[in-house]
Amino acid sequence: MTRTPDAEWPALARRLADELERSGKLSDPAWRAAVCAVPRHELVPSYFQQDSAGVWTRSDTRTDEGRREWLEKIYSNSVLITALREDTQPPRVLSSSTQPGLMTRMLQALDVHDGQTVLEIGTGTGYNAALLCHRLGSAGVYSVDVEPDLTETARERLRHLGFTPTLVAGDGAAGLPAHAPFDRIIATCAVPEIPWTWVEQVPVGGAILTDLKIAHNAGSLVRLTHTTPSRAEGRFDPTYAAFMGLRPQQGEPGRAPALADRDATSVEHHVTKVDPQTPWNSMIVWFLAAFDLGPDIAIGFTGRADTGQPPDVSVSTPDGSWARIGMDTTDSGGHQVTQGGPRRLWQIVETANDLWNQLDRPGWERFGLTVTPGDQTVWLDRPDSQHRWPVKH
Ligand SMILES: C[S@@+](CC[C@H](N)C(=O)[O-])C[C@H]1O[C@@H](n2cnc3c(N)ncnc32)[C@H](O)[C@@H]1O
Repeated sequence: MTRTPDAEWPALARRLADELERSGKLSDPAWRAAVCAVPRHELVPSYFQQDSAGVWTRSDTRTDEGRREWLEKIYSNSVLITALREDTQPPRVLSSSTQPGLMTRMLQALDVHDGQTVLEIGTGTGYNAALLCHRLGSAGVYSVDVEPDLTETARERLRHLGFTPTLVAGDGAAGLPAHAPFDRIIATCAVPEIPWTWVEQVPVGGAILTDLKIAHNAGSLVRLTHTTPSRAEGRFDPTYAAFMGLRPQQGEPGRAPALADRDATSVEHHVTKVDPQTPWNSMIVWFLAAFDLGPDIAIGFTGRADTGQPPDVSVSTPDGSWARIGMDTTDSGGHQVTQGGPRRLWQIVETANDLWNQLDRPGWERFGLTVTPGDQTVWLDRPDSQHRWPVKH
């Protein structure tokens, strides 16, 4: 006989909490209690999966086997795609339920206390909002999503579970001025810079936790404290994380520049020692490079028909500069680079790689961010460090 999710989920939620504890992503008993008490399956009744041909299908709970697979997945440390815009080609991901381990890491880093208020940017399924409600009570929780369908669905599902946070449909870049101030703001989508309105909506002493991505893939989680009326400052989290970008409007694609037209002048060839997978693998090098490459860098690769492996990676910027880096290793152990246009893009990545090595390969925790109404600056080790990079947009 098939057992229902109602009979099974508490044990699965405890198993998930155990797994997150073992892997160092959950240590606070209050957040453990929330993970054990909130039925994620009620907030994620289905999810989408993409096959190797890029085709999306919804999880199927009609069969016993399908239900079992769905429930196991819900109570695993997995990110689950929950909303797609299917009238575009290819379909665009609009929302997901974040990896539970990333959520618990962020919730712990948020350092909330009884009686505090939290604004979440990116309601999505409402699961993170439910964890916050369990910890702080619904009256302390506010959440905004740019997709009205998502806030409505989350409102219904949360109410069914006895949670009644304030949910609003709108652009979270503006925060929620009508309900401010908040002791904490947590964004579960990435921003290209910190909206100053967020700083204004937390009191001095309050905190903001968000994913800063100054360009595609370039940046990570940063926790800022509002230190003086005109300043917020803090460090990046030691572990890399990536969220979908904040979208200016409902259903809109996020910031994902297309490969620009290539300027055919000044074409040059050389062999690089820097791995062409840097944009995906060597996140800090790519972050440092992005300060010079600019916010609208586009990355692309094409698959070989026979193996599906890409022969090369391409990067380009709107000024027509471009670089193509071969994936195969040359006889000398490097990778062939061809680049053209006004700027030498891969040289910028090589320079960033050299700097990272000279600085003793710092991890994210050595980087910090200072935000004022007029500018935002990333620094190494200390705000007054000689190594500082302005965030430009
Ligand atoms: C990773 S999902 C959020 C996951 C969510 N916290 C949960 O527990 O399911 C990111 C969300 O950010 C939302 N989003 C994107 N742009 C936004 C914006 N400008 N304002 C508010 N939400 C936005 C997306 O619609 C999406 O639901």
